[in-house]
Amino acid sequence: MATNIILNQVFTDATRRKLIHSGDIFLISALKSTAKMCDYAFQVVCDKFKTANPETAFLDLPVEEFAKKVEKVKNEFSNSFYSKELIRELLIETDSDPAEYYFDVPRIRIVPNYDYLHAGVSYAYSPHRDTWYGGPTYQINHWMPVLPIKPEVSMAIWPNYFSKTVKNSSETFDITRWDKVERKKAVENIKVETRPHPLPFEEINRESELRIAGSPGDIIIFSANHLHGTVPNQTNTTRFSIDFRVFNKLDIKEANGPDNVDSEATGMDGDYLQQMFDANTLLKYAS
Ligand SMILES: [Fe+2]
Repeated sequence: MATNIILNQVFTDATRRKLIHSGDIFLISALKSTAKMCDYAFQVVCDKFKTANPETAFLDLPVEEFAKKVEKVKNEFSNSFYSKELIRELLIETDSDPAEYYFDVPRIRIVPNYDYLHAGVSYAYSPHRDTWYGGPTYQINHWMPVLPIKPEVSMAIWPNYFSKTVKNSSETFDITRWDKVERKKAVENIKVETRPHPLPFEEINRESELRIAGSPGDIIIFSANHLHGTVPNQTNTTRFSIDFRVFNKLDIKEANGPDNVDSEATGMDGDYLQQMFDANTLLKYAS
């Protein structure tokens, strides 16, 4: 089945969600909220790395020191109130009602040259669906570059697997355990990734690989059910990107979304949603 890529077209929230749940990928450029999010992320990066050129900062840093700085950036960005406010702004700017959404904190990914570091804080994600990490199938992913990005350092999506099973190790993954135990071990993982990520057990056919190169704030919106992963960075320029996930309340209530094709991860539903924030109040679901 063809995958539609929909560029800058305006739909109602309900129609857009329906299309996303059927595998369509939305690209939206020139949004004010995402431009602000990128500016803020870049400012945090420059501040923690103490440089105006963070793309090449790793060249002069021992990898342990780099990992510590990345961890500081991630903590500040994800936990700031401002980045949460900007998610609410994005929902309003794209004609969604924040009162109808929960979201997970935005995360910044910092991906330096693969041989320098590809574990822990800069883990290069193998092909996966977010459902393998405990996400529900109605989860909607957002991804954007913080600086102009080239296809060779972008994220890859393999749309031909949207409804096609991939043998994988998600049955060993529990999102509650991950949040409580594994997530904080990122900074200890330098040489190799020892945390139990869900992985594919079969070779992925990459013929349909989609890499989207964009400018700061150009946002890609797609279903958590899409198989996607990090393109290993073989360049000497670090890639900075932002991602976050939103959950529509009606989708939760009605269990909308694509079928779960192959995830056996546990801990989603109640526990997973406890981590989320209400997009209207910006308070945690559980509070
Ligand atoms: Fe993912």
